[in-house]
Order: sequence, then C-alpha cells, then structure tokens
Amino acid sequence: MKRVELVQLGVGHVGRAVAQIVLEERKRWQERFGIDISYRAVADTSGALWGEDLLPQAIRLKESGGRLSELGAEPTEEVLGAAPGPGVVRVLVDAAAGEGTYDLDLLGVRGGSSLVLCNKGPISGSTARYEELVGGGPERLRYEATVGAGVPVLSTIEALQASGDDILEIQASPSGTLGFIMSGVEEGRPFSEVVREAAGLHYTEPDPRDDLSGLDVARKALILARKIGRRLEPEEVPYESLVPEELRGVSVDEFMERLSEFDEAFAARLSSVRPGYVLRYLARIPKEGPVEVGLREVPAAGCFGSRNGVENVFNFRTRRYSDVTLTISGPGAGPERTASGVVCDLLDLARRAAERNGG
Ligand code: HSE
Repeated sequence: MKRVELVQLGVGHVGRAVAQIVLEERKRWQERFGIDISYRAVADTSGALWGEDLLPQAIRLKESGGRLSELGAEPTEEVLGAAPGPGVVRVLVDAAAGEGTYDLDLLGVRGGSSLVLCNKGPISGSTARYEELVGGGPERLRYEATVGAGVPVLSTIEALQASGDDILEIQASPSGTLGFIMSGVEEGRPFSEVVREAAGLHYTEPDPRDDLSGLDVARKALILARKIGRRLEPEEVPYESLVPEELRGVSVDEFMERLSEFDEAFAARLSSVRPGYVLRYLARIPKEGPVEVGLREVPAAGCFGSRNGVENVFNFRTRRYSDVTLTISGPGAGPERTASGVVCDLLDLARRAAERNGG
C-alpha cells in the first residue's frame, strides 16, 4: 500500500466537495489502486491546519464563513516546506481562486509535491510564470478541472496529441455560468435574477464579475491555447464584458445588489438577435492567428445553442477530424462536477508518483 498525503489549498465549495469525495471513497481506492490517501494539511488564505483530525471542524467553520486562523492555523509555507516522510507521496491540491496561490503552488512543486489545480489563476498568468509552474511536466502537474470542470477536455487533447494527430482549432462554449445565464434570460427571466441564482448554485466564481466580465472564459481559452502549443500572454486574449468594468471598484455584495441596473440593456440586446439564433459566450482557439472570446449569435438548433443550463461544449477540428467535428460536452460548472475532475487528477498523479517511488 502506497501512502499519499494530501495538502489542500482552498476549503470553499469546490474544496469541500473534494474533501467529501476523498473521505467517502478512499477505502475503495485502497483496494482498487493500492493507495492510502490522508489529509496532511488543509489551508485557506489565513494559514494551514496540520493533520486530518481538524478537517471536519475546518469544513464546518468554512461553511459558516469563518477563516482557519480561528482554529489556530500556521503559515502554509511551513507545511509545504516540510518534506514528506520517507517513501510518502505528497499531492498538493489548489482549490482556491485567483493567482494569489501561485507562490505556494511553486513552493510545493519545488519541495517535491505533485500539483493538482482546479484554480485557473496560477496557470493563466504570464508565460514566464506558466512555464515555471508546468516545468516539471505532466508527471507532476494536472489541471483538468480548470476547463470544463469534470468534462475530460484536457485529457482529450492529450489523447489526440498522443495519437499523432494535430489540433487545428478548438471552438468552445466553456462557461457554465454564462450558459446558464443566457438560457435563463431566453426564458424571459431578468438578467439579475438568473445571475443571482447561478451564484446561489455556486456555478459562478467567488467573485461573479470574473464570469460576467469574460475573464473566466479568457483564462480557459488561454489554458487551451497553451495546451495546443501556443505561447501567448494573457493580454493576447482580449475578452468582452457583459457588465461595465468600472463596477470592479465596488464590493461583491454591492455589485450583486446593483445587478438589476443591467436588466433592461440585457433584454434589449437579446431582442436584437435574429430569429432562429441565440447569444452564446464562445471562445475560438486556432492553432495560428488570434484567439477570440466574446458573445456570438449562433443557430439555436446548433451544438452551441444548448439551453441545457451549465452545459459546456468543446468542438475540435484536427488534421484527422477535418471534415467532421469531434465534440465533447457536459456540465461544466458546480462544486461536485469540478471536484470530480480534481479527484481524477489526484488519483492519476498519486499513482504516477507511487510508481516513481517504487510503490
Ligand atoms: N465559473 C465557472 C463557470 C466555473 O461557470 O464555468 C467552472 O470553471
């Protein structure tokens, strides 16, 4: 049996869903994969708690909006800096949001941890930062859940690349939140109401402006572009915001209260769409040329016209699939779906590390 210790950054909705799956399923993983996973530490921005005993308490505290410092958290750097025990594999899961955990992730990787990201921030910054983080290669870093949540998008790209095929273009509807909003407003509901519902179901990022500004889609487009070999800076993926950027200056609560200011303009935009078409927030990532991110009119009956809430759709055009399109789709947001992608990566990296360590 190979021992795997888990350090998890982020105990938000996704982080808690990951912990739930790990605690519920790990017995089965012992029998099936010969790996024994336990929590070494769990951390939020206020610090880290050692050991698994405090996990249930930490989860309850985070559910009620508290911070781990209230339970006596220590600096996360100390946890990541301490070497795992002999023969023990360590996996760091970054289930936080934003670029703020980059240094901790890098510290973890340099200290010998394998890294699973569902946080898009650390790999959607500058090329230099990205290359530094992914330098250890796929043996040490997986980030499937950063795009499409549990939909196996990045592994599909890897499978196509491993088969010797070349990806020529990806077209995607990669935002669960924006899909949910667009299909909701098409039913005649006010924009503000649907956005609030999406936030209540935890489809949105912790700051829903990251979704509504198009930033979340731009990050996913950049991740996909890099995955197919493009070397792009974030500024080379411009995006279109659904709400005024000036509102970045107010608190999330104030922003959510002011959402109804945009109901009328949004309804007007929708009514200008040609009959038989709908508006969807899409990304186009070609092998060469500009990456495009923004609202597009698409046929309602086409693959991107889905009214299926959080459904994400990814179309691949490749050298072999040039006359037909290879499509994968599925629910692309929500804590449980995202956690499913994280656990897939976690088990993959744990098994690879265990093999390297002679497990
Ligand atoms: N806010 C994101 C979305 C979550 O709605 O697609 C999954 O990345």
